[in-house]
Amino acid sequence: MSYFIGLDVGTSGAKALLINEKGEVISSATNEYQMLTPKPNWTEQNPEEWWEASKKSIQSVASKVKKNEIKGIGLTGQMHGLVTLDENMHIVRPCIMWNDQRTVKECDEITAKIGFDKLIKITGNQVLTGFTAPKILWIKNNEPENYKKIRKILLPKDYIRFRLTGELATDVSDASGTSLLNVPERKWSDEILTGLEISKEWMPQLYESSEISGRVKKELCEELNLPGDLLVVAGGGDQAAGGVGTGTVKEGITSLVLGTSGVVFAHSNKPRIEANGKVHSFCHAVPDAWHVMGVTLSAAGSLQWYRNTFHKGVEYSELTKTAEDIQPGSEGLFFLPYLSGERTPYADANAKGTFIGATVRHNSAHFTRAVLEGVAYSLRDCFELNEKLGVKTEQVRISGGGAKNNMWIQILSDLLNKEIVTLSSTEGASYGAAILAAVASGEFNSVNEACNSMIKIKSTTTPNKENINIYEDFYNIYKNLYGTLKSTFVNISGTVEKYSN
Ligand code: XUL
Repeated sequence: MSYFIGLDVGTSGAKALLINEKGEVISSATNEYQMLTPKPNWTEQNPEEWWEASKKSIQSVASKVKKNEIKGIGLTGQMHGLVTLDENMHIVRPCIMWNDQRTVKECDEITAKIGFDKLIKITGNQVLTGFTAPKILWIKNNEPENYKKIRKILLPKDYIRFRLTGELATDVSDASGTSLLNVPERKWSDEILTGLEISKEWMPQLYESSEISGRVKKELCEELNLPGDLLVVAGGGDQAAGGVGTGTVKEGITSLVLGTSGVVFAHSNKPRIEANGKVHSFCHAVPDAWHVMGVTLSAAGSLQWYRNTFHKGVEYSELTKTAEDIQPGSEGLFFLPYLSGERTPYADANAKGTFIGATVRHNSAHFTRAVLEGVAYSLRDCFELNEKLGVKTEQVRISGGGAKNNMWIQILSDLLNKEIVTLSSTEGASYGAAILAAVASGEFNSVNEACNSMIKIKSTTTPNKENINIYEDFYNIYKNLYGTLKSTFVNISGTVEKYSN
């Protein structure tokens, strides 16, 4: 038997997953670490803690099988974080993470220096506060002593690669979230690096995700219970590796992760860039492929908020069962799920969660159904943007906590008018990273072949014909609500700010 390890250097912990050549999960281990918030809106982590946690997790899963049957490790992790190394390859300062918001000024600076249209054309995206390039400028603007020391920069999973193998490398999917990659051409952009006065010498070597990036150092193989010279595959950012983990590796398939946030991730055989940067356009972890991605910030998070606020202690299945008898469209009650602002299609921090359309007829069950439908409408917005870019979806592959709710899946299938399937593995990014290791080890000829062989469909939901038109009508109303309320959201924010202490 052959075994493969996927390591996910996540936001809350390092998870190692061991799978066999059939794609069966043999063992999983997670070791957690802290997220530091030294100031409001700042988030940082200490890369040394990732390393300690990663070693423990790898050691734990590797001890479950015979050493020489382990054939490769694939890396994935939180994207966008900035790790800085000095001339001795020591950490300069803690990593500034993907959810850090300190770089508003630097984003404006980059957009002004490069120009909005050029930035979108080259990097596929607008520059967002979470991305890597503005973090580099922030250090330059605010910590000049640290800036002077920088000789190399890395993304989070790539620091673990460096410790495992000594190689300074990354992959094209993770590099897509830096704002420094030419996404259509899959190489560092000289134009942007020069424009921002960032030395190309600082950038790690780029690989395709299924290429071998190095070998585990001899002394570590002993310590971690790994065979000598074990290959480390380039891997991918957590979203792209998650796409591989759900088999979203050919046109026609879109993955829908219904977690705290909802991610609509579609495979594309060519770069497709939205002129206003409304959807993320990144390189995929599949050679010569790209992906487009939209994010509803509060997806299953909306249901969690609603349950905890109005139905504390009630099981989710019990709660949503009450809404089964309510007609599609909740008799005109709508919920806008912008509880933490929104990313797609409205990048608007002021957008607010809203119930609208309530009448004396509406009871608690209507409100529950409206929450499920509101999240579904928002996800449909993401699908609509993808379709405008020419991405067709024949099958949706759903995962995440919300995918346990069959009623929610049916609502989505009716509203999207698409077949939705659940999968045998729900391990996400670490599973995709292990698949990439299987490809690099030669077990499969391509990522596609590996996914076809390892990923199994568990259940299929098809649209209920009677509901398709009803949802079309209600979605057309939903679509206009944000535009109607946009300025009110701004007024609410301003007034709350005025009276806050
Ligand atoms: C992707 C993104 C998150 C982070 C953390 O753009 O912001 O997926 O990688 O998981």
